[in-house]
Amino acid sequence: MSIDQEIEKAAQILAKASNAVASCGAGISAESGIPTFRDPGGVWERVDPSEAATSEGLIATLKRDPQKLLPFFMELLETFERAEPNPAHYALKELEHMGILKTVVTQNIDNLHLEAGNTDVIEVHGSGFRMRCLSCEWSKNYSRRELISRIKQKMSDADSFTFSDIVELMPKCEGCGAVTRPDVVMFGEQVKDIPRSFEAARKCDVMLAIGTSGVVYPAAYLPFQAKDAGARVIVVNPNENAFQSVSDVYVPLKAGEAMERIVKEVKEIVLDKK
Ligand code: APR
Repeated sequence: MSIDQEIEKAAQILAKASNAVASCGAGISAESGIPTFRDPGGVWERVDPSEAATSEGLIATLKRDPQKLLPFFMELLETFERAEPNPAHYALKELEHMGILKTVVTQNIDNLHLEAGNTDVIEVHGSGFRMRCLSCEWSKNYSRRELISRIKQKMSDADSFTFSDIVELMPKCEGCGAVTRPDVVMFGEQVKDIPRSFEAARKCDVMLAIGTSGVVYPAAYLPFQAKDAGARVIVVNPNENAFQSVSDVYVPLKAGEAMERIVKEVKEIVLDKK
């Protein structure tokens, strides 16, 4: 089928849906300027995961050579500060507003689905804008501007970046005063809300898999779970269809263009029916 036909088919499927779930990866935020992990020039080409993606590896690197990750960390801070939801994020908010989409399950920690306006967002890899205490149950969501300006201010005041300086950058727990850390899931740590994510996948009528390479489990199971439970599966990814064995529709476009065109056609179909 042509891309236009794939978009038309996706719109026809979504126009009939009332319990769709979107399972999103880094690709949906690529057009917000946030680098993906495995594309050419992606995060894992620039930073060794063993030195930055596990808490042990990150602490060891920061203790051994705190300057090593600093340029990448600063660049990421600037990227997150400039990032805004893109048309793909807003398309998912529109689908929720139309009563078609219920839940977004995201592997991303950038907060962009919540900022776009979706209200049921499961962040299985946590959030870079939520801090949690290392000693008690306290946690707190911060606005993008609030947290980033605070960290940048403390970094500009600091004249060195030892491990303890970096720990000091983080807000203190407002419950017990202890050290906090970003509530993100590092490699080897327990992912979040998987039972609820699997339940959403098994109950949905349509699964939209957007911008993910499908190499990281358990999030990568979701489209298979949905198909197994009788849902239709729509994949949006300009480079690859990681769910080819279960996809009903594959739209080989960037998420922004694909989702804008799909939602426009869904609206036309829904309006024609009225
Ligand atoms: N629109 C849609 N998809 C895109 C776009 C775009 N503009 N640009 C790239 N992609 C696709 C790529 O083709 C790729 O398939 O997004 C996917 C990104 O894949 P990864 O970089 O592997 O990201 P993701 O699938 O989210 O990785 C999962 O791996 O390292 C861990 O915790 C990290 O959450 C991450 C997890």
